[in-house]
Amino acid sequence: NAQIVDVIKDKSGDLYQHSRNGSALLNEKRKLNDRKQKSKQDILQKSTMDKIIQEEEGNEEDDDDKRDEQDSEDLISNLNRSKPEQVINRDNLPAYKVRSQLVKLINENQVTIVIGETGSGKTTQLPQILYEEGYHHNGMIGITQPRRMAAISVAKRVSEEMNVKIGENVGFTVRFNDFTSDLTEVKFMTDGVLLRETLNDSDLNKYSCVIMDEAHERSLNTDILFGIFKKLLTKRRDFKLIITSATMNSAKFSRFFNNAVQFKIPGKTYPVDIMFQSIPSADYIDSAVKQALKIHLSNPFQAGNSGDILIFMTGQEDIEVTCQLIEEELNELMKLNEEIAELDILPVYSSLSAHLQSKIFQDSKNRKCMVATNIAETSLTLKNVKFVIDSGLMKLKVYNPKLNMDSLQIVPISKAQASQRSGRAGRTCPGQSFRLYTLSSFENEMWDEPIPEIQRSNLMNTILLLKNLNISDINKFKFIDKPSTESIETSQYELWSIGALDNFGSLTSLGRSMSQFPIDPLLSKMLIISNFKKFSCTAEIVRIVAMLSVPNIFIRSRNDANLQKKSDKIRENFQIGESDHLTLLNIFNQFYNIKSTSKNSEEAWCNKNYFNYKSLKSATDIHDQILQLVTKNLKRGEKITSCYDDWEIIKECICASFYSNAAEFYKHGQYKHCRSGLEMYLHPTSSLNGIGDLPKYVVFHELLLTGQKQHMNYVTAIRGEWLIAYGSVFYSRRVRGVSSKENQRLKEEQFQKLIDFERSKRAEHTEL
Ligand code: CDP
Ligand code: MG
Repeated sequence: NAQIVDVIKDKSGDLYQHSRNGSALLNEKRKLNDRKQKSKQDILQKSTMDKIIQEEEGNEEDDDDKRDEQDSEDLISNLNRSKPEQVINRDNLPAYKVRSQLVKLINENQVTIVIGETGSGKTTQLPQILYEEGYHHNGMIGITQPRRMAAISVAKRVSEEMNVKIGENVGFTVRFNDFTSDLTEVKFMTDGVLLRETLNDSDLNKYSCVIMDEAHERSLNTDILFGIFKKLLTKRRDFKLIITSATMNSAKFSRFFNNAVQFKIPGKTYPVDIMFQSIPSADYIDSAVKQALKIHLSNPFQAGNSGDILIFMTGQEDIEVTCQLIEEELNELMKLNEEIAELDILPVYSSLSAHLQSKIFQDSKNRKCMVATNIAETSLTLKNVKFVIDSGLMKLKVYNPKLNMDSLQIVPISKAQASQRSGRAGRTCPGQSFRLYTLSSFENEMWDEPIPEIQRSNLMNTILLLKNLNISDINKFKFIDKPSTESIETSQYELWSIGALDNFGSLTSLGRSMSQFPIDPLLSKMLIISNFKKFSCTAEIVRIVAMLSVPNIFIRSRNDANLQKKSDKIRENFQIGESDHLTLLNIFNQFYNIKSTSKNSEEAWCNKNYFNYKSLKSATDIHDQILQLVTKNLKRGEKITSCYDDWEIIKECICASFYSNAAEFYKHGQYKHCRSGLEMYLHPTSSLNGIGDLPKYVVFHELLLTGQKQHMNYVTAIRGEWLIAYGSVFYSRRVRGVSSKENQRLKEEQFQKLIDFERSKRAEHTEL
C-alpha cells in the first residue's frame, strides 16, 4: 500500500530555495562535480535491468574483494592490540530469548533455517548456544561468512564474549591467514575457506555442525557449498547444518533442502511509510541531498531519540560526493538561520577506517545522517534510524562471458533489497522510507530477488574446484540456481585453453596443481610454471603475484592535472623494460628493502612517490603467505628459484601464462585484443604510456571498463613468437586470406566437437 507522494516538490520552504539561488560558491563546487553527476543522470533514465547501465569511473579502486583483503590485514595486525569492546548483556538479545526453542529445533532437524533481523544475535549467539549444548564434543562448530572482515571481527567478538583467547578455543581462518590451533572448537571462516577444505575432506569430518551465516547474500562460494552439503547431508546423518538468512531467499533455501524447517526470531518492528517519486529523478545524488535536508529541517531532533537518517548510495565515490554536498548546503542554510541544528554526516562503506566506523555506533547529541553502500542493508546494526532514503541502485560485479571480462556496474536493486532497505527505518519506532524512484520502475525494472553471484561470475575457479571434487559433469551438479550454460562453457573453454583441462574436460596435472592455490587460475598457473627449469624465476613471480592481488598502488589525482603530471613523472623513475609487471616488481623490491628501517620511513617513501602505503604493506604480507604456499607445494628436492634481474625470462614467463590476454598494436596508444578484435587502451598509469614506439604485442593482467573505454590494467611487452610458442591454441603465423576471427571460430568449433564427442561417449556409457 505504497503512498505515492512527490518527494521532489520542495515543501520545506523558501529558506531552502533561497540558499540555492543565492549561493554562487555552491554552484562553483557543483560544477566540479558536474562531470561525475552528468554521467549519473543518465542512469535512471536508461535504467532497465538487463542492460549495462553505467560503468563507474575508476572502478578499479572500488574492487571490494581486494579491499576486503587489505582491510582484514589491518584488522589482523591489530587483533591483540585493540581493547575489548564492552560486553553486551546477551539476555536481551532476541536470539537468546528464544534459546530453548532454537536448541529443540536444531536437535530435532538436520537442517534449520534461522531468520532474524540484523542485530538479533544470530552471528554471535548461535555458535555459543551450540557450544553450550556440547556440539563441539563431536567435532568443530564451523561458521562461514561471505566476507573476511566479518569473519575476523565476529571471531574476535565471540572470543571476548566467551572469555577465551582468539586463536585457541575460538579461532578463524581466512585466505592467507590461519588463526586456529589444536584447541579450536569454534571456528569462523570465509565460505571460500570451507569450500577449499572440502577438497581434502569432502565429508567435512572435522565438523559436527556448520552455520552458514548471511546466506541470503548468495555469494558464489555459499552457493557451491549448498550443492556440496546437499550430498553430504545424506552421507552424514549426524551432521547439522544451520543457515541464517534475512527474510529474502529463506523460502528458497527451505525448498532446496527438502522443505527444511524455518524459524523466525521474533523481533519487534514498527510500520514504515513508503514513498515513491511521482516522476523519475534526473539525478539521484541531488535528490538524496535535497531529501535529507528536507527531513532535517522539518523534523526536530532530540538526542537519545531515534531520528537518524540513512541514505543508500552505490559506492565510495557517490557517498563522498553526497556527504560533501549535504555539508555544504547545510552550512549555507545555517549561515542564514542560526536555529538550524547540526548534523553528523557519516559515510559508511566497507573499507572505512576503524576510527570513522566507530563513529557510526557512538551516541551523539546531533542527528546522524549516514550515507552507506548496501552493507547497511543487513550487515551492520544501526540503531535509531527513522528515515531511509533509497537511491534504488547498487554497484555489482558482473561477468560478461562474451568478453571474458568482469566489470563493475551500477544496476537497480531488487524488490527484496528495497524492502530490506526500507525496513531499516522501523527498528526503534515507526519510520519513513523515501524511494528515489517511481512505483512503475519498482514494479517493472526490479527483479524480485537479487541475482546470485554464481549467475554473474566467471566460473573458472569454481569449475576447477568442482572437477577436483570429481564432479566431471558440471551440469549435473545440484545448483540452487544454475549458472547459464554459456558461462559454464566459456569457463571450461578458457580452462582448456590454458591447459588446466584436457580434451575430454578432465583435470590435467597442471589443473590439479593450480587448484592448490586460492588465487586466480592464470596467476596460479604463472606461479607453477615459474619454477619450471626453463623459467626459474619463482621468487620474482611470487612478488609480482602479490602486487597484483592488492588494490591499485598508484595514486593519481582524478581532477588535478598538475598533480597528475607530477605523479606520472615520479612513476617513470620506477619503470622497467616496457612492463608494468616488472615495474611492480621493482617497486616491491625497493619497498621491501626499506622495510627494515622504521614504519614512518616506509610511509614517507610511499607518500613521496605517490604510492598507496596500505596496498604495498598488504602486498608484502600476501607475498609471505604465497611464498609459504608455494614452498609447501614443492616436489621433493625442488627449491624456490630466482632469476634475479633477468627481465626477459620474467616477461616470457608472464606471456606463457597470460597469452589468452594478448593485444596487438593498433594506433596511438590503442591496441586490439588478439582474440576478439576488441579495441583497448593503455591504462593511464601504465609505464608504456611514455614510450614513443609502442611494442607490437603485449599481454595484460586484466581489463577494466572505465567510462566507455576498455583499459588494459598492468601490461607487459612480449614477442610475437612467444605467443605462437605458448599460445598455440589461439595463435599461429598469420596465413593470408584467413582472418584471426575466422581462425578463432575454427578453434572453437573444434573444441565444441570435442565436447560433443565426450558427451556422446558418456551417453553410451550410461546405456551400458
Ligand atoms: O547476526 P545478527 O545481525 O543477528 O546479530 P549479531 O551480529 O550477533 O549482533 C548481536 C549484538 O551484538 C548487536 O547488538 C551488535 O551490535 C552487537 N555486536 C557488537 O557490539 N560488536 C560486534 N563485533 C558484533 C556484535
Ligand atoms: Mg549476523
